[in-house]
Amino acid sequence: MIGTNVHQAADLLKKGKLVAIPTETVYGLAANALNETAVLSIFKAKERPFFDPLIVHIWSLKQLSDLTISFPEKAQILADKYWPGPLTLILQKSELVPDLVTSGLPMVGIRMPRHPMTQQLLSLLDFPLAAPSANPFGYVSPTNAAHVMDQLEGRIDYILDGGQSPVGVESTIVSFAEANRPVVLRYGGISMEEIEDSIGTVEVEINSGNRPNAPGQLDKHYATAKTLEIAELSDFEGIADLDNFVIGFGPDSFSAFDFNLSEKSDLNEAASNLFSALRLADASTKHSILAFKVSDIGIGRAINDRLKRAAAG
Ligand code: TXA
Ligand code: MG
Repeated sequence: MIGTNVHQAADLLKKGKLVAIPTETVYGLAANALNETAVLSIFKAKERPFFDPLIVHIWSLKQLSDLTISFPEKAQILADKYWPGPLTLILQKSELVPDLVTSGLPMVGIRMPRHPMTQQLLSLLDFPLAAPSANPFGYVSPTNAAHVMDQLEGRIDYILDGGQSPVGVESTIVSFAEANRPVVLRYGGISMEEIEDSIGTVEVEINSGNRPNAPGQLDKHYATAKTLEIAELSDFEGIADLDNFVIGFGPDSFSAFDFNLSEKSDLNEAASNLFSALRLADASTKHSILAFKVSDIGIGRAINDRLKRAAAG
């Protein structure tokens, strides 16, 4: 059920089964991307709507030519620089990729993850793995095996335990739906600064509402069960005494944070703690959750984006 046996995980995947896999961003719920029945069982286990496409995970660039029909220059630059890593490229799909994986779109999301266990797993398979985050649809993503167990036990065949996900927020998604116009669809583990340093200015189309360019990016997503409110640190004193689970950031001058994402104000550390903090807040006896915005730089943008979606609705 849960373990560190990569060969057992590979054997199950070869039989069309579901395996939760560790990645550097969050845990994924994986199945053979080229086997429609297996892919269907991902949607079932997650209660995920079919309009929300899945990311296909590879371990070698050699796999790309089978799955896609073009590889624009700027996409190549990003892949060279940030793969393996927390970056998903949306590219034109080949006929090999089932429509179920892409929700009928002509484009497919591809990512080469950096976690060594999952790289080894992929190298044992002659097919890529379709994997959304391993959480029930709409809830906070899992960053360790226990998070996956808590919610999906009984629905999946094996959880490959690779420890804590070091990045802690999902991959950055860059679409090449138009080859010469890269567009960021989701903030994530690779920052805007890193992307623009590599390929120049890119547009950003982060969904609000339910626009079809990245169908899964609903306003309300990554949501906690409890109500979450976002505040500026400067407003803290007025709201500190309410029955809130307080998720803070930086030196705690108020001694009232229930969880500090990073005492030393390190945004990378904060990102790696974020989803655990949200889960702890949900499990606490507090009535609701209060989280503070962080700076909109580097991975801070992804943190603020996830907080905003958790707070929406
Ligand atoms: O870090 C990650 O990306 C993690 C790990 C497991 O790799 N995966 C992940 O998957 O976050 P998921 O399913 O929770 O989010 C993937 C999102 C979809 O909701 C959708 O917005 C976008 O990626 N996506 C996937 N394929 C797409 C496509 N063909 N066109 C547009 N957006 C796509
Ligand atoms: Mg997800």
